[in-house]
Amino acid sequence: MTRVAVATALGGPEVLQIVEEAVAHPAAGQVLVDIKAIGVNPIDYKLYSGAFGSDESTLPIRLGSEASGVVTAVGAGATGPAGPISVGDEVIVTGVSGSYAEKLLAPGDAVLPKPSNLSWEEAAGFVLVAGTSYDTLEVTKVGEGDTVLVHGAAGGVGSIVVQQAKARGARVIATARAINHDALRDYGAEPVEYGAGLLDRVKALSPNGISVAIDTVGTDEAVDVSLALVADKSRIVTIAAFDRADDDGFQSVGGGNQESAKRRKAARLELVDAARAGTLVVPIAKTFPLDEVATAHRELQTQHSRGKFILIP
Ligand SMILES: NC(=O)c1ccc[n+]([C@@H]2O[C@H](COP(=O)([O-])OP(=O)(O)OC[C@H]3O[C@@H](n4cnc5c(N)ncnc54)[C@H](OP(=O)(O)O)[C@@H]3O)[C@@H](O)[C@H]2O)c1
Repeated sequence: MTRVAVATALGGPEVLQIVEEAVAHPAAGQVLVDIKAIGVNPIDYKLYSGAFGSDESTLPIRLGSEASGVVTAVGAGATGPAGPISVGDEVIVTGVSGSYAEKLLAPGDAVLPKPSNLSWEEAAGFVLVAGTSYDTLEVTKVGEGDTVLVHGAAGGVGSIVVQQAKARGARVIATARAINHDALRDYGAEPVEYGAGLLDRVKALSPNGISVAIDTVGTDEAVDVSLALVADKSRIVTIAAFDRADDDGFQSVGGGNQESAKRRKAARLELVDAARAGTLVVPIAKTFPLDEVATAHRELQTQHSRGKFILIP
């Protein structure tokens, strides 16, 4: 048996419950993972909030797409992107559904080796945000000589966009609350506060213009400032304002985009290597016991400290 977190209705975090479920032996190609830590992402609460529609036939909804843990059973021929998987392997599970659990059956293809220098918490929470960030930089072709405006730069995705854009040789202007500015400076970015007057503050920092805008927030302010500053719409991308991207003719990634999914899958091992090498750092904001999943989701939807939220089963 395993305890799992499920949404039993559409609504706020009050609809979350912990239930017991049977665990099957892994079928061919699958592995069973004893979960040590679980990455929490905004998509997890969007799944039951009604943000994606009000179809109740999907209930109850198992939550969570990533985790870290130890392989305890292996189905015939189970192989991951890094090769065959064995009992006892310390792994990251990514791109699954239902990782808010003590034990998880996963396809071998979703299982990556955990870098031994990362804690369980660090390993559980970086692949989704790093893959999303990588995707935004790829589609906007960020490179040396670019000046990149990153909206929401202190967030899970935004803070990696900053690191990866700097690693590509770009200048980075990064929007965040003042409390996060020192951390962004440490990554080599030039921080600026979001809110009224953002356009003028960015212009003052970069009078010669901005070549790329990456929106990880989805507000009209972030979109409008990006459109005002970046002439080439193919170099504006959002991960959250999908309607604005459609209406205004700029790029979006994720949200069911198959090309995004392919790019991210192809980059997974490279991102794990970067985390192992210390060139990709995803700080942990806070950990919660699995039983407190509703509290974690409530806090993630309010102003919160920088870094990832992690659940411990
Ligand atoms: N399309 C995809 O594939 C994809 C993938 C991952 C995430 N997402 C979406 O992207 C969004 C961010 O995800 P995340 O994991 O990075 O979330 P997160 O860790 O909660 O970060 C959100 C950040 O937004 C900043 N923020 C809040 N209000 C803002 C405003 N008005 N203007 C500018 N920044 C503001 C906050 O920074 P301060 O603390 O400085 O205020 C916060 O750090 C979510 O909507 C998520 O669902 C999409």
